[in-house]
Amino acid sequence: MSTSTLEVAHGGIPAGKEEIYAKEPVLSARKLVITFGRVVGLDGVDLDLYPGEVLAVIGDNGAGKSTLIKCLTGAYVPDSGEITLNGQPVHFKKPQDAREAGIETVYQQLAVIPALDIASNLYLAREERRPGPLGSVLRMLDKKGMEKRAGQSVQELGIQTIQNMGQAVETLSGGQRQAVAVARAAAFGSKVVVLDEPTAALGVKESGMVLDMVKQLRDKGLSIILISHNMPHVWEVADRIHIQRLGGRAGVITPQTHDMGEGVAIMTGAKRLEGSS
Ligand SMILES: Nc1ncnc2c1ncn2[C@@H]1O[C@H](COP(=O)(O)OP(=O)(O)O)[C@@H](O)[C@H]1O
Ligand SMILES: [Mg+2]
Repeated sequence: MSTSTLEVAHGGIPAGKEEIYAKEPVLSARKLVITFGRVVGLDGVDLDLYPGEVLAVIGDNGAGKSTLIKCLTGAYVPDSGEITLNGQPVHFKKPQDAREAGIETVYQQLAVIPALDIASNLYLAREERRPGPLGSVLRMLDKKGMEKRAGQSVQELGIQTIQNMGQAVETLSGGQRQAVAVARAAAFGSKVVVLDEPTAALGVKESGMVLDMVKQLRDKGLSIILISHNMPHVWEVADRIHIQRLGGRAGVITPQTHDMGEGVAIMTGAKRLEGSS
């Protein structure tokens, strides 16, 4: 190659977190391939997500970040390759399949419905019916119960600024809306939460709030995949960083072993991780 491919060492395991990485990954992908006509979206990608970690995914535009996430969350079906959840092979055909298996995704757009209140947003597409025949026969929604449980999950996540679960989401700030979307993803016994650019549209203070939520979810034992272009955010919250490049995985580093400059250099191909092709 003509570019100076300075080699940098592999990132390895984050210091002080060895016990997490001695476990089985909660979610793994091996040799995922997907093509769109003649366009190669993914070119044999591997990914490992461990229980209780924040795995950031970074990469240039077109590197395959969204495509990778879509394959893991049932939005795309890969042409070949294997995905395992808790060691068991899974074959998601649609997003609902991944969701039922415990993988929740928060997309940057359309994460919430502004005109609905907070409780309704949290229970969107999984409304709970009243107990007994009122619910099963008359299909009546358990509005009180949903508001109560919505309040609990929002409180648990420490979004103190949200007082009233009946408040319309359109009256909330961008950060609070995103917080509702993240709370929604985390509120239903999910194992894996995927966040696609959650802070892209937010100010500094609001981003800080969402990043704090990400850390709290991780500390509760959830596994999080965080796609982001914001390198300071990535270096602040990630345990490990998966670098996606030209449809493949260029390497995995940690914020302790590599600085942002090195991360970006690997992303753009100016530097290569030792032993990677
Ligand atoms: N539905 C699709 N149809 C055609 N090409 C696609 C589709 N989805 C993704 N691609 C292509 O796959 C490649 C990876 O895209 P994407 O995953 O969106 O990258 P990133 O999210 O890293 O910016 C790009 O070349 C993109 O044009
Ligand atoms: Mg994308």
